Amino acid sequence: MRKGRFGKSMPAVARDYSESLSFDRRLCHHDITGSIAHAAALARAGVISMHEKKRIETGLREIEREIESGKFQWNKSLEDVHMNIESALTRKIGDAGAKLHTARSRNDQVALDLRLFVKDAIEHTSLRLKKVQRALLGLAQKYADVVMPGYTHLQRAQPILFAHYLLSQVENLARDDERLGNCWSRTDVLPLGSGALAGSTISVDRESIARDLKFARVSQNSIDAVGDRDFICEFLFCLAMIGMHLSRLSEDLILWSTSEFEFVEFSDEFSTGSSLMPQKKNPDMAELTRGKTGRLYGNLMSILTTLKALPSSYNRDLQEDKEALFDSVDTVSSALQVFAAMLPKIKINRARMKEAASDPNLLATDLAEYLVKKEMPFRKAHEIVGKLVAGTVGKGAKLNAVPLAKLKKLSPLFSADVARVFDVRRSLSERRAIGAPSPQDVRAQIKRWRERLRG
Ligand code: ARG
Repeated sequence: MRKGRFGKSMPAVARDYSESLSFDRRLCHHDITGSIAHAAALARAGVISMHEKKRIETGLREIEREIESGKFQWNKSLEDVHMNIESALTRKIGDAGAKLHTARSRNDQVALDLRLFVKDAIEHTSLRLKKVQRALLGLAQKYADVVMPGYTHLQRAQPILFAHYLLSQVENLARDDERLGNCWSRTDVLPLGSGALAGSTISVDRESIARDLKFARVSQNSIDAVGDRDFICEFLFCLAMIGMHLSRLSEDLILWSTSEFEFVEFSDEFSTGSSLMPQKKNPDMAELTRGKTGRLYGNLMSILTTLKALPSSYNRDLQEDKEALFDSVDTVSSALQVFAAMLPKIKINRARMKEAASDPNLLATDLAEYLVKKEMPFRKAHEIVGKLVAGTVGKGAKLNAVPLAKLKKLSPLFSADVARVFDVRRSLSERRAIGAPSPQDVRAQIKRWRERLRG
């Protein structure tokens, strides 16, 4: 590439500083796929012969096999994956190889490779995400009847079914999956044919390349197409969001696995010990997932910052998009795999959860609603129950043990049927609505998710 314009070759420091081969060789398959489609378009346009097209294709397939088998000689003095493959092809097939880059720049080439890569990565991420959803759903089915306290502010709030909690996690991952689908539609645009920034005087049929490469649309502005990395920002945001959701799930599980809670226990296989304290069993997988979420945010911030105030079209700064992208893809992919394998093996301590859920204070709201059902305004009922709680808290007394006579003094609406309020199962079964935690509604949600996650 330097042969024409440059008198001197690059010193090693500059070459090492600017190379991207060490990380972008990961795009080799996408680069080859893109080049084969480009050669086909050049042949259709009459720029190269059918014979040359065939030679290019055969040569590229051969290179692909060499890369797969580890035989391919990567040349570090060539900047990137694109130069490496093109130069190996020309060495292999001569002039036909030297024609491949007609009407193409590495600017639209790398934009194409990245879009092909992101489309594949979206598919993989989505499949792995669904496996985690299925694992959560499996637990929800297995422990469908387990009650536990629900928390707000990390304070005991109201009783819920453990399955209801698990389904809340299935929901947030479903939004992530939907987001990946949205990101896909903006990634599914062919940039090839945009050249360096202004297309080419040698015109190729871009629509047919899009069909060959299974892109839904072609980009409509060549300047935009070579400088656009919005799809990477979006994808890194999707991945950061998945990390955030997994980190919140991790935090719940870490907390619930403490001796203070003892609601859940990680299986030995997914736990680590301490080098010092023999009794320790640490939830490192969940902690690492919580920690790695920082990296995912960092990668998103890094691409956004690289793009800030970047002049339009292609600038070499854009080479910095790849490592962040690859790192986030790998981090989320392994986190999802760990969770899919770890979740089904989590042990649940029903007795501890039940004991915590039978704290009568969890039913204070039900008590207020008891009065509301007897036509007391809710604010007033809230105040009365609040006073009752204040009178019991700290005195070792239980809300369900206040004598009826004392209740009647606060309101004549209290009668013997108040005892019913303090039955957790009753409380749950009366919580009927779409999305509510009654066993009936939770069963309906389990069924809905089983159908949605089938396959
Ligand atoms: N290695 C470059 C990148 O990753 C490929 C495109 C280089 N284009 C250029 N005009 N220098 O962005």
